[in-house]
Amino acid sequence: MARRFVRLLDAAPGGSWRDIGCGTGAVTRAVLDLAEPESVVGIDPSAGYVQYARRNITDARARFVLADAVNLPFADATASVAVSGLVLNFVPDAPRAAAEMTRAVRPGGLVGAYVWDFEEGGMEAIRAFWDAASALDPAARDLDEAVRFPLCGRAPLRELLVGAGLEDVEVEAIGVPTRFSGFDDYWEPFLGGQGPAPAYVASLPRERRVELRERLRSALPRAADGSIPLHARAWAARGRRTA
Ligand SMILES: C[S@@+](CC[C@H](N)C(=O)[O-])C[C@H]1O[C@@H](n2cnc3c(N)ncnc32)[C@H](O)[C@@H]1O
Repeated sequence: MARRFVRLLDAAPGGSWRDIGCGTGAVTRAVLDLAEPESVVGIDPSAGYVQYARRNITDARARFVLADAVNLPFADATASVAVSGLVLNFVPDAPRAAAEMTRAVRPGGLVGAYVWDFEEGGMEAIRAFWDAASALDPAARDLDEAVRFPLCGRAPLRELLVGAGLEDVEVEAIGVPTRFSGFDDYWEPFLGGQGPAPAYVASLPRERRVELRERLRSALPRAADGSIPLHARAWAARGRRTA
């Protein structure tokens, strides 16, 4: 998805990039591979992610800094492009994060962000999860990302960038196939405890977890070879800082 997004941005080669909420560095990696940047600085408030990104991305053009999206450690108008992948819905003050990204880029610079499409269920692996969980447990409805993250829709994402004062704001759907080799391949990531759905699984007593797992096993589509062919869609937005 990060690669789709970077291609969609179509930024001029060169320039200094900022990757806000870089996590393990997926977006930074895509920028390095596809956008010919002069430099990329990734920031994230999680020390573990920053350490991981530093260890795994050793390209001399990239560096990683511990910081929060609402208080970026960058001087005004010093970057060419600021991007953020699958992050802004986790930031309690997303308008402030968007304003910070805008502040960090030069006049005429690009700000881009993408979030999963929870609004229309385009992130099918997660939609299937919450459909099954809510059918078994009405309390799960409030934990569903579609409810918790109203930013994850076309219009709210657009409004966020427009609200930050960006111009020429465009939002597009970008998608990738997410084919799981079998049920275990789909289910195992939900056992990691991190993120809304895995945290919900971790909160369930063993019998309820088994019930949920078996409901999902029978609900998910199957291809003839036993794989689970799903699709993931995100809303990708870009805008320009007024020149
Ligand atoms: C789903 S991950 C996405 C990571 C990466 N951008 C990617 O596409 O793989 C969400 C990231 O947002 C980061 N995050 C959460 N709150 C944040 C905040 N207030 N400021 C910056 N990053 C934040 C998390 O630490 C995590 O790395």
